Amino acid sequence: MKKTIHFKLNGEKTSMDVAPNDVLLEALRANLGAKSPKCGCDRGDCGTCTVMINGRAVRSCLILAVEVEGCEILTLEGVSKGRIAALQRSFVKHNSFQCGFCAPGMIMSLTELLNHKPTPTEEEVKEAISGNLCRCTGYTQIVEGVMDPAVSKKR
Ligand code: FES
Ligand code: FES
Repeated sequence: MKKTIHFKLNGEKTSMDVAPNDVLLEALRANLGAKSPKCGCDRGDCGTCTVMINGRAVRSCLILAVEVEGCEILTLEGVSKGRIAALQRSFVKHNSFQCGFCAPGMIMSLTELLNHKPTPTEEEVKEAISGNLCRCTGYTQIVEGVMDPAVSKKR
């Protein structure tokens, strides 16, 4: 039997009807049109489904939708303004991504890092995205994009 859960998505109060075994990733995509979290592996290995729940970057393929009752969820759609917009411009400048499939998850992991550490070291950036797999790049341009001075100026 479905249950209605209430939470905030990208700052807006919302609700959706979910079954007890509905996974958050698919529930967000199917019910609310939040298409930035993607299904790469469906088992917690790739990080493409990463969203922020109450300020923490988590893999939405490992969370049941019923668990987010009362929570605040952020997806890429909700962080594309302000300083994260500067990060995205920097990624374009550094050709950080090729297909872009991994980018939303990477950006959510980096949003958590930058919220807590506005001027991270290269090692901290690498650690923050260590759970986000990219099959196209060697990660070098992604790290360069985060370390670009234009990104730190916006913080
Ligand atoms: S789809 Fe969630 S970690 Fe890969
Ligand atoms: S740019 Fe293609 S998977 Fe990362």
